[in-house]
Amino acid sequence: MVYQSSSVLIRVEFLLFSRPRTKDDLRAYFLLVQNPQFTSTSTYVIYAHLLRQTATLSEADHHFLVHWFQTLPLRRFKQLVERLLQFISLRLFPAKPDDLPPMAKCTWWIPSATRVLALLNAANSLANPPIIPFVDFYNSTLDHIDLMEEYHIWQCYGNSHRFSFCQFPFILSLAAKKIIIQRDSERQMITVARQSLVDKVSRRQKPDINMLFLNVKVRRSHLVNDSLDELTRKRADLKKKLKITFVGEAGLDMGGLTKEWFILLIRQIFQPDYGMFTYQWDSRFYWFSSFKCESYSEFQLVGTLMGLAVYNSITLNVRFPPFCYKKLLSPPVVPTHQNATVGVALLTLDDLRQLMPDLAHGLTALINYEGNIEEDFCSTFQIFQEEFGILKSYNLKPGGNRIPVTNQNRQEYVQLYIDFLLNKSIYKQFAAFYYGFHSVCASNALMLLLPEEVEILVCGSPELDIYALQKITQYEGYSKMDPTIRYFWDVVLGFSLELQKQLLHFTTGSDRVPVGGLADLSFKITKIDVPTDWLPVAHTCFNQLCLPPYKNKKELKQKLTIAISNTEGFGLE
Ligand SMILES: *[C@@H]1O[C@H](CO)[C@@H](O)[C@H](O)[C@H]1NC(C)=O
Ligand SMILES: *[C@@H]1O[C@H](CO)[C@@H](O)[C@H](O)[C@H]1NC(C)=O
Ligand SMILES: *[C@@H]1O[C@H](CO)[C@@H](O)[C@H](O)[C@H]1NC(C)=O
Repeated sequence: MVYQSSSVLIRVEFLLFSRPRTKDDLRAYFLLVQNPQFTSTSTYVIYAHLLRQTATLSEADHHFLVHWFQTLPLRRFKQLVERLLQFISLRLFPAKPDDLPPMAKCTWWIPSATRVLALLNAANSLANPPIIPFVDFYNSTLDHIDLMEEYHIWQCYGNSHRFSFCQFPFILSLAAKKIIIQRDSERQMITVARQSLVDKVSRRQKPDINMLFLNVKVRRSHLVNDSLDELTRKRADLKKKLKITFVGEAGLDMGGLTKEWFILLIRQIFQPDYGMFTYQWDSRFYWFSSFKCESYSEFQLVGTLMGLAVYNSITLNVRFPPFCYKKLLSPPVVPTHQNATVGVALLTLDDLRQLMPDLAHGLTALINYEGNIEEDFCSTFQIFQEEFGILKSYNLKPGGNRIPVTNQNRQEYVQLYIDFLLNKSIYKQFAAFYYGFHSVCASNALMLLLPEEVEILVCGSPELDIYALQKITQYEGYSKMDPTIRYFWDVVLGFSLELQKQLLHFTTGSDRVPVGGLADLSFKITKIDVPTDWLPVAHTCFNQLCLPPYKNKKELKQKLTIAISNTEGFGLE
């Protein structure tokens, strides 16, 4: 489509004074909004009017627009999104303020643009798969505005006439959302801390600095039980800054002990022998064990740990399937009603496929089977599951062992099977886990998050910028210009992404980086004076790589590659 500037402007002015009457009028809006001339700030006054008109169209018209946006070629769709984001950024922070009318006269510009962007976002999330990744809707300029003000407006006025970016969470980057969640929780924490301070003073007791921390004291020999006890006893303090002490060991927690505590606990809890989680070999994900117990408090502990990790900017190396985070956000805020169901999301065969691809494959085959299922398969609504080596049977519905699976009821069978594995058989476990997480991360701000974003908050971001890592790296015993260090970066920058991630995993215990980028990560290379035929080692609790002073690049590359390829064996911790 080629646009003639003058005719476009005439057309715009014409439209700005009339409402669309026909589908052709609406079509004109659709085309005009795509006009590449609107990239220039000199057209922004007209663009803004067009956006306002588009934003205030009827719901039926919006419906058409969303549908039409889905049919756009990828490149055009992307440009449209980028242009709108740029419009918002430049209105907020104009490069040359004189180019635009004074802000006071344009307060409606940004809301209009954001509402049009919401139509594009709707088009994107309704498409399967999405046209562009959800992160392409982030506007990181907004990381620098007063986010708490936006949050308060949203909390006070909801989705009514006062505009807040929180009504349109797709535009807020995950770093911005993390800021909101943390601040909101700090505010709750300060309220709690102030209350306990007031109580102490009124009882004429001396306030104590430790009141400001969540002090957890554990014995290494009783790690899980002690941690469970401490966190239960101190559940009012979960939002305070975490400080770990290992009983009988001197040492001030400067972050290293906290990290060690997380690593040791997670490792112990996820061991298949421990019985809480089962490891799925075909997907390499963990899932809740359906084994019945008297108390599910250990599952609550795992949820609490995940919440604490978010709060304390620690990335956890936990591998749950993506739909787990959908469940964790169902609902995003804990219901006040005691008997409400939690952690139940509508899940499909696609979700099951993430966790148990082989089983999902079999069920898909059943659904597509063209012969007579009842005669050829002889299955019933009874299934079998192995638990600690013992095969147990379950009825998917009452009397299931006597109900044959037929061509007519196979959809029901598959749905019940999925509900059994991903919900019913582990309902209590998951509910405890859900409450644990939300006991720390209790904020309405969780409503702003996509399940994918929760996963990144907990486990870190899979994007690794190795140059950024090089920038933040600190040295001990070496200087940046030492030959060994120069060889090191030559080798590492030349590594495949896979190997670079293995290096990160070897040194930090996780191949992902915290949200907000590497700023939250410390990464240190320390010289150890050992013979150079030794391999490098790592202290994962301190994100510290101990590098012998290798004399040449070849030697360094060989030793480093061996060390990081055998991650399990060499970490010192
Ligand atoms: C942890 O506590 C449970 C019950 O409170 C007990 O049965 C179990 O033996 C304890 N485990 C350890 C390692 O102390
Ligand atoms: C919650 O469930 C219990 C028993 O399961 C029942 O006695 C109680 O009335 C229920 N409460 C509400 C508010 O539904
Ligand atoms: C999930 O499990 C709970 C508890 O067994 C059950 O009440 C619920 O119906 C199940 N499924 C769905 C989709 O809610």
